[in-house]
Amino acid sequence: MNYKIAVIPGDGIGPEIVREARKVLDQAAARFGFTLSYTELLLGGASIDAHGVPLTQETIEGAKSSDAVLMGSIGGDARISPWYKLEPSLRPEAGLLGIRKALNLFANLRPAYLYDELRAACPLKEEIIGEGFDLMIVRELTGGLYFGERKTIEENGSKKAIDTLVYSEDEIRRIAVKAFEIARKRRGRLCSVDKANVLDSSRLWRAVTEEVAKDYPDVELSHMLVDNCAMQLVKDPGQFDVILTENMFGDILSDEASMITGSIGMLSSASLNETKFGLYEPSHGSAPDIAGKGIANPIATILSAAMLLRYSLDQDEAADAVEEAVKSVLAEGYRTADLMSEGCIQTGTEQMGDLIAGKVAGK
Ligand code: IPM
Ligand code: MG
Repeated sequence: MNYKIAVIPGDGIGPEIVREARKVLDQAAARFGFTLSYTELLLGGASIDAHGVPLTQETIEGAKSSDAVLMGSIGGDARISPWYKLEPSLRPEAGLLGIRKALNLFANLRPAYLYDELRAACPLKEEIIGEGFDLMIVRELTGGLYFGERKTIEENGSKKAIDTLVYSEDEIRRIAVKAFEIARKRRGRLCSVDKANVLDSSRLWRAVTEEVAKDYPDVELSHMLVDNCAMQLVKDPGQFDVILTENMFGDILSDEASMITGSIGMLSSASLNETKFGLYEPSHGSAPDIAGKGIANPIATILSAAMLLRYSLDQDEAADAVEEAVKSVLAEGYRTADLMSEGCIQTGTEQMGDLIAGKVAGK
């Protein structure tokens, strides 16, 4: 079996971390008897440099004609990069939002799991960590504040900026269904996070989620306000199984969740549509401050590649092997700089990739 993988290295540390993830994917393919053919596509700053726009039709078509997309990260340092002199719709992030929308990737899965080996890197106290945590954030990705109408106007000589948070019942229902399906395959608990004490969109979110819950009597649904959820994540993260939330809240909560796993460099993600197709990228950004230094943590991208194997290619065994490989390299004490703690062995990006790829190959 051959699969077509579109690869978007992107900007900053993107090319370095994607290189390591590809290495790991190649070993997984060799070991489990399938092949992968890659096509590189441009997005974000790299696309602006080549074509003047952050997303081209060529990239959309290239992604659509593949089985899955593996992505690094996009964007630069807004204080110095020329990309941020362009109008907002032409900046790197607009490319990312554009491709999510063009491919209808409405479901963003961000698993946050504390490896036993990384307890020392977790910023929470031992008594809070307790038995550890293993949660999945299901973030709506193509609606809400990110895609509502926005404009900046001038009224009586004073500027006014407007962003709109819009959700339709259908948009809420399809992401809720995904989250219930995922909860059903995990520990059967779904916490829907909103701001229903203030926002109409959240009140509709709650009502629709309640309605969908009727089809999933085996899943226990609860609701939590987003400010409380931000607090609960650092107070008792072990209470969560699946968290379902809208685009902006999910963006914020997933950064918080990633930090308690030890480093933002650990959090993978899958962005899915109604089919098997998906785009897989780490939840972190392009870290321009450390780009090219060979010190970035490639694990979030490698774990995203594992999700690609699992969700888009149905290669569960290969996905398990990649996840196991990450675990055993961590167990042997290897750490990139962001995860470093006493007694561990510091590695760079490439060495970490080699170690994990080696384990996947069965070495
Ligand atoms: C993420 C990122 C993006 C987002 C940015 C780069 C636009 O923060 O994937 O979480 O806000 O969705
Ligand atoms: Mg984010």
